[in-house]
Amino acid sequence: MARSCGVTSSAALFLVLALCVAAMHAYIPVNLMMPLDTITNDGALNDPQGIRQDLQQLKNGGVDGVMVDVWWGVVERAGPRRYNWTSYLQLVDIVDQVGLKIQFVTSFHQCGTNVGDQCFIPLPPWVLSIGQANPDIYYRDREGGADDEYLSLGVDYQPVLNGRTALQVYADYMSSLEQTFRVFLQKGTINQIQVGMGPAGELRYPSYQLSKWSYCGVGEFQCYDKYMLADLDQAAIAAGHPDWGNGGPDNAGTYDSNPEDTGFFSDNGGDNYSSPYGRFFLNWYSNKLLNHSDSILKSARQIFSRYSGLSIAGKVSGIHWWYNTNSHAAELTAGYYNTNGNNGYLKIAQVFSKYGANFDFTALEMVNSPNNCGSAPETLVKQTILAAQIAHVGYDGENALELCSGSCSQSGFQQIIKESTQYGAISGFTYLRLTNNLIYNQNNWNTFLNFVNAMHRA
Ligand SMILES: *[C@@H]1O[C@H](CO)[C@@H](O)[C@H](O)[C@H]1NC(C)=O
Ligand SMILES: *[C@@H]1O[C@H](CO)[C@@H](O)[C@H](O)[C@H]1NC(C)=O
Ligand SMILES: *[C@@H]1O[C@H](CO)[C@@H](O)[C@H](O)[C@H]1NC(C)=O
Repeated sequence: MARSCGVTSSAALFLVLALCVAAMHAYIPVNLMMPLDTITNDGALNDPQGIRQDLQQLKNGGVDGVMVDVWWGVVERAGPRRYNWTSYLQLVDIVDQVGLKIQFVTSFHQCGTNVGDQCFIPLPPWVLSIGQANPDIYYRDREGGADDEYLSLGVDYQPVLNGRTALQVYADYMSSLEQTFRVFLQKGTINQIQVGMGPAGELRYPSYQLSKWSYCGVGEFQCYDKYMLADLDQAAIAAGHPDWGNGGPDNAGTYDSNPEDTGFFSDNGGDNYSSPYGRFFLNWYSNKLLNHSDSILKSARQIFSRYSGLSIAGKVSGIHWWYNTNSHAAELTAGYYNTNGNNGYLKIAQVFSKYGANFDFTALEMVNSPNNCGSAPETLVKQTILAAQIAHVGYDGENALELCSGSCSQSGFQQIIKESTQYGAISGFTYLRLTNNLIYNQNNWNTFLNFVNAMHRA
């Protein structure tokens, strides 16, 4: 660097310096997540004129693009394979005219069960009616409670959806998307497909459902639908321990337990997470999730392979509570086997790497507070960034909580800039979420645009 930056003539000074500076800086694109009511509960584009105005405001400020949930419950609501992309075509057309980029999230989960959800879009009605007759298509907990926000990975290979498996249903949906949006994929208007692989669009089990859980419980394992139970029994037999089947650990507490109050997650339990049984179970549980992501990303890669400018991505949940303990209890119930010497996030990044998928992670604005439920988001972010680097996949960041509900938190944005650059520049950042209070309040908008500029010269 020093030699190539040597100045040989004063005429070249400015140019050479400019090139050196450019070479030292990375451009981290910044996107905004569209509001959850961009598409109404009944599937229409909500206020196209207003959307155009908002997008123009983003364009004028130098924001790179937007991200939007493409709800399964909207697009395939009329019946199996009867896709209706009308509202999304309208939206992409506006985005294209304004000159922004858009990232599509194939949201195979329900809208309306997560923090701050202002929408209610369940799975397609024909899926719900299959679920009424056979609730085992959904994840279940130890008490038998089924969670209808996302299909269990237990039906990935079961032709229970009018003859199709869940994996076929996801692949058919992505193929229809590809056929419908070909022009915009070729032009690069759609520049990322983030593939939904679980509740909240995240690759995880629904271990901390808000209707049953409150911060900072350990959550519950979700392996009690009949398909998962049968798979576990087979794995137990194959391991030479049929007694390791019949459901998950019986000493793992309930949703709101503290790890130290359970046998399984504490360091002095009888048959705990680090016992031979614990290791068997956690291996099986986390491998099912890895297999789920492998299978879905494999179809995504095949379907979208011809678009060189398009990235695909998967999202991983930021489970920062109890991170600062030996067992990492809350991560374990979510399916991230990040204890007993395992790097749970590296395993995921290595699967993503097989299909060139970016690793999308959240909580970049948060700071460690280990006295609060062993919460260590900064350490977790570091682990995931390094995992993505080792696996040679891109890393896209998000914030977990709104930073501008009143006036913007400057320190939150500073923290994001720090996390996005201190281990090397990340690939992109999506801010949750676009609101009037962010883009039409002059102080907030200035704060945000300063953030965007800093990310563009990272
Ligand atoms: C497709 O969705 C749009 C927007 O909700 C709706 O107006 C239209 O009638 C739907 N088309 C069909 C064939 O159902
Ligand atoms: C429980 O976990 C700890 C590791 O934290 C281990 O040293 C101990 O042997 C385990 N206890 C049993 C009974 O497996
Ligand atoms: C995922 O699991 C299925 C069914 O058990 C198996 O056929 C497939 O080979 C697995 N995929 C990977 C990548 O391990």
